[in-house]
Amino acid sequence: MKTITLKTPSMEGRIHIGADVIEMRLPTLRAGQKNFVVTDSNVYALYSAWFEKYFSNAEIFVLPAGEEYKNFTSLQSILIKMTGAGMHRTSRVFAVGGGVVGDIAGLAASLFMRGVSCVQIPTTLLAQVDSSVGGKTAVDLCGVKNVVGAFYQPCEVLVSPDFLKTLPAREIKCGLGEIVKYAALNAEIFDKLESNIDKLADLDFLASLTELCIRHKAQVVEGDEKENGERKSLNVGHTTGHAIELESGLSHGEGVLYGMRIETKIAIAQGVCNRKYGESLLALIDKALAVAPQSMPDFSQIGQAAEKARADKKNADDGKIRMAVAQDKGAWTSLALPFEEYKNCLIEYAK
Ligand SMILES: NC(=O)c1ccc[n+]([C@@H]2O[C@H](COP(=O)([O-])OP(=O)(O)OC[C@H]3O[C@@H](n4cnc5c(N)ncnc54)[C@H](O)[C@@H]3O)[C@@H](O)[C@H]2O)c1
Repeated sequence: MKTITLKTPSMEGRIHIGADVIEMRLPTLRAGQKNFVVTDSNVYALYSAWFEKYFSNAEIFVLPAGEEYKNFTSLQSILIKMTGAGMHRTSRVFAVGGGVVGDIAGLAASLFMRGVSCVQIPTTLLAQVDSSVGGKTAVDLCGVKNVVGAFYQPCEVLVSPDFLKTLPAREIKCGLGEIVKYAALNAEIFDKLESNIDKLADLDFLASLTELCIRHKAQVVEGDEKENGERKSLNVGHTTGHAIELESGLSHGEGVLYGMRIETKIAIAQGVCNRKYGESLLALIDKALAVAPQSMPDFSQIGQAAEKARADKKNADDGKIRMAVAQDKGAWTSLALPFEEYKNCLIEYAK
């Protein structure tokens, strides 16, 4: 088991990584207080024996699987169940699932009695390399992603690669989407992906990058928990990615890959991304998109996705669309475009 400490002004949390993390940490973490587990219907069905083994005495809330349930109604249902089950300030919430479960359970933990302790147990590659770490919690509202949320750090994150064995290929690709985002920010991860370009669908190879991605994120979050500066870098590809995700119904990780593809092309055209480097990043993104290939989404109405980008949290009041984009190997910058120019770029570069 490897342990990374993430220290912010609000909390000192620990991220444990390894096949032995559940046995090493879970018995201790669940002892001594009332426990409340949030999971989703797929994970609960696949891991019923696991839940029986570790959480037979806990209250378990099973969310229907899918992004569409990351909403206020589900959040309210979780909070009602926590209240009815007699949870109190010393109780602990365990989020066992992908990014959807982690985001909504983390938000419920932040709200219940103004905050109870939360443990993240991520079961998707995306949640293991990214979403379970850093304390961003949220639900979607009125078709806008993550618009209601809180920064609320988990006390521990248990990252066990064993959960990944049941992941469908498309979910591996979604995790790869966030790994490629880290490659756009971190030269070591970029080099590892480039020199193992034929292993982008190899789960063991991808899981071997988990620690590097988490270390990168933990360092960024420690320096800027509330996203006033460097943490904005972690949104590379996400302005357009979220808009595509909402408009096309693609999964988050796939949306991020398409978002990075379009935003990198925009950054090259605007002269803010080194062309040679940008082209090598685009080649990597295209290889990642070819993992578990789906038919190319219909981008004929991509202008509508631009409208979704208008509501993005990263925008300011000047009406410009703000993106974090790759600049050169291991370097990023921010780019703001007037809405009409951004919309025209989407139409041009989505092809
Ligand atoms: N908080 C953050 O910092 C952050 C960062 C990135 C993404 N996110 C959010 O994360 C969400 C995407 O996360 P995701 O890709 O994990 O999606 P998800 O939680 O919807 O999980 C994807 C699918 O995999 C299934 N699943 C989960 N674990 C499994 C397992 N071990 N075996 C088989 N199937 C399994 C789920 O039931 C679901 O159908 C989005 O809502 C996104 O906004 C948050």
